[in-house]
Amino acid sequence: MREYWQKKPLLMRQAIPNFRPPLDGNEIAGLACEEDASARIFVREGDDEQSWRKKIGPFEESDLTSLPEDKPWSLIVNDLDVQAQPFGDMLELFNCFPRWRISDIQASVSPDGGGVGPHSDHFDVFLLQAEGEKVWAVADNEEYWPDNDAAFVPECEIRVLKSFVEDDSFTLVPGDMLYLPPKIAHNGVATNSKPGVSVTLSIGFLAPTTDELVLSYTQRASEKLKGSRWSDPWLKPVEDVGAISAESITYASEIIKRTYPKNDAEVARWFGCHTTARTGEDDDADENEVSIEELLAAWEHQGLVAREDLRFAFVEKVADDSLKNALFFANGECWDVVSPAAVKTATVIANRGELYEEDTQTEECDFDDEALKLALTLFERGYLYFPEDEDD
Ligand SMILES: [Fe+2]
Repeated sequence: MREYWQKKPLLMRQAIPNFRPPLDGNEIAGLACEEDASARIFVREGDDEQSWRKKIGPFEESDLTSLPEDKPWSLIVNDLDVQAQPFGDMLELFNCFPRWRISDIQASVSPDGGGVGPHSDHFDVFLLQAEGEKVWAVADNEEYWPDNDAAFVPECEIRVLKSFVEDDSFTLVPGDMLYLPPKIAHNGVATNSKPGVSVTLSIGFLAPTTDELVLSYTQRASEKLKGSRWSDPWLKPVEDVGAISAESITYASEIIKRTYPKNDAEVARWFGCHTTARTGEDDDADENEVSIEELLAAWEHQGLVAREDLRFAFVEKVADDSLKNALFFANGECWDVVSPAAVKTATVIANRGELYEEDTQTEECDFDDEALKLALTLFERGYLYFPEDEDD
C-alpha cells in the first residue's frame, strides 16, 4: 500500500490463482433483471466514441437477449456485494482496507470488443478478471483527468475521452488483477471470450469529496443552532447606512465558530454517522418487538447476520483522547458503547458482519445488559437478522 495505493497502477498476475467467480456472466445478467438492480448497458452504435448509447436498468430478459452481435456492448451491474452474498464474502479479500472506504463490487459483462470506452474517473479500483480476457490500456496523463471536461466527448450519453493515447497495456486473464488509482485514464476491451463473455469484477473505492464532508458536518452542527437568531442589542446609531460594521463581522464570525467541533470526539460522532449513512431512506425497517429471552433462544441455533446493504463501523479512540467511550455506528446512527462486552459486540458486528451470543460476552462477563441490549435493538430494527428466518 505504501508504494501503490493512490499513487500508481499495479498489475498482479494471478492475484487469485484458480479464481472461480461466485456467479458467471449469465447469472450476473440475471441479477441485472431483478427489481432492485443497479445496472446499465452501454452500446457503441457506430465506429467512433461519439456513438455510445446508455440504457439504465433494471432490465427485462429481452433487453439482454436482443443485444447486438455486431456492435460492442457492456452490461454493468453495481452493488453485487449487496445483491449476492458470495460477492459480499469476496470483500474479505480486501480486509486490509477499512470497509467504509469500499464503495461496491461491480461487474462488466461484454462480448469480444466490448467495453465502456476510454475514460477516467475518481475511483480507486481493483479490476479482477473473472471470465474471458480483457486488454486494459492505461494512461497517466493530466490531460485525461476526470475534471477536464474539454477532454471528453461533448453531449455523449457516457463519459468517454475524445482521444486517448495509452502509455501501457495489459491483457488480464482470469485471476489477474489490476489496481488503478483515481484519475488514471483507462480503456478495457474484452477479448478471447468466445463462445462466452468477458467478465471483469471491479472492486471500487470512491473517496468522499471534501466539500461533501464539510457540508455534511456543518449541516449537522447547524441543527443545534435551530431557532436562534442574530441578536444585536449592542447596535449603535450609524453614519453610513450602507456600511456593515466591524462589530457585525465579529459577531458573524463568532456564530460560525460556534459550529466548529470542540474536539476529535465530536468529529468522530459526525464522521461515523456520515460514512455509515446510505443514501435512500430505509422505509422497510419494520420494528419487531422481541424480548432478550426470545433472542437468546433463537441465538442457540444460528448466528445473527448484519444486513448487507447497511454500513456498520466503530470508533474506539481518537488522537486527542477526548473520547470517553467507544462509539458504534449503524446506518447513520450512533450508539455510545461503554462496557467491554458491548465494545466487543460492536466491533464484531462492524468487523465481521455476524454475531453469535458468545460475541456479547467477555472472559470476565458472560451476561452483559448493555451488549445484549445493543444486539436486541439492532435485531428489532432489522439491522441484524437470522438468515434462516429469511428463507421461510
Ligand atoms: Fe473506470
